[in-house]
Amino acid sequence: QNVFQGRSVLAEKDFTAAELEYLIDFGLHLKALKKAGVPHHYLEGKNIALLFEKSSTRTRSAFTTAAIDLGAHPEYLGSGDIQLGKKESTSDTAKVLGSMFDGIEFRGFKQSDAEILARDSGVPVWNGLTDEWHPTQMLADFMTVKENFGKLQGLTLTFMGDGRNNVANSLLVTGAILGVNIHIVSPKELFPTDEIQSIAKGFAEKSGAKLLITDDLDEGMKGSNIVYTDVWVSMGESNWEERVKLLTPYQVNMEALKKTGTPDDQLIFMHCLPAFHNTETEYGKDIEKKYGITEMEVTDEVFTSKYARQFEEAENRMHSIKAMMAATLGNLFIPRV
Ligand code: CP
Ligand code: NVA
Repeated sequence: QNVFQGRSVLAEKDFTAAELEYLIDFGLHLKALKKAGVPHHYLEGKNIALLFEKSSTRTRSAFTTAAIDLGAHPEYLGSGDIQLGKKESTSDTAKVLGSMFDGIEFRGFKQSDAEILARDSGVPVWNGLTDEWHPTQMLADFMTVKENFGKLQGLTLTFMGDGRNNVANSLLVTGAILGVNIHIVSPKELFPTDEIQSIAKGFAEKSGAKLLITDDLDEGMKGSNIVYTDVWVSMGESNWEERVKLLTPYQVNMEALKKTGTPDDQLIFMHCLPAFHNTETEYGKDIEKKYGITEMEVTDEVFTSKYARQFEEAENRMHSIKAMMAATLGNLFIPRV
């Protein structure tokens, strides 16, 4: 019996620690197969819809290459191309797509749209990021942590920055489920909502994960093995001035890394990407002109340091998404979990 068969992946809270760890381990296995050139066509003949209301480099590329490696056909449907919620309800779109595709990836604004797609399409829906959660990022992130440390339980991951965004929410809850201690270090105004905190606390009581939400850098950094950050202004937001003011003290720089007190071989830096660590892009130049800063959530020094794992993390998006799609859609025999 495969406990994943036919299931959607909308939010991490719907999965047990054993289930999440199974998908992480399966991702590591598929990575080894890929590196060894061993075919793994678990989704031969399947059609996969990739719905994107927001832009993406990693998630789109990961789903596309993962689907092709699994023998499936991916089809990209951008918000400019289809009706989704404009001239046609999300529910009607779900019914149509579900009659043609075997699985649907959705990246968008509202979590409720992902839920409607899952409810009315009749096929697995995978959340490729909403305003609330980023579950496929978590599979890659904790896979990267396991790859680096050989374990998950007992490690401490500190997220510093906008403690209210999708990635912060997902890290807090996923760490709590898996037994990874999570620190959120951000200004009080950007602490996770009470609702997210209480979901995480419920899981932490079971797993033993220690959760800390603080605006104090010294306290928050202490003892961290993984220092993680994300953009200060997420897709769909535009409150630059406020964020720069609030978050400047919460930049991941070498001084912040030193506060961990962790030995070098037990410390890594992660970032889901895209990152603002220099002014190479037009976007970066524009920010510099307006706010007089050349780096935001992370300094170039940290980003290019020996601690940095963000590009391994990005690659792992593909392997872990492959594991998730194969497990939920591949008619595999998965007796464990
Ligand atoms: N980390 C991530 O989701 O990247 P993209 O926005 O490029 O997909
Ligand atoms: N918090 C970011 C994550 C990007 C992968 C955003 O939503 O834009």
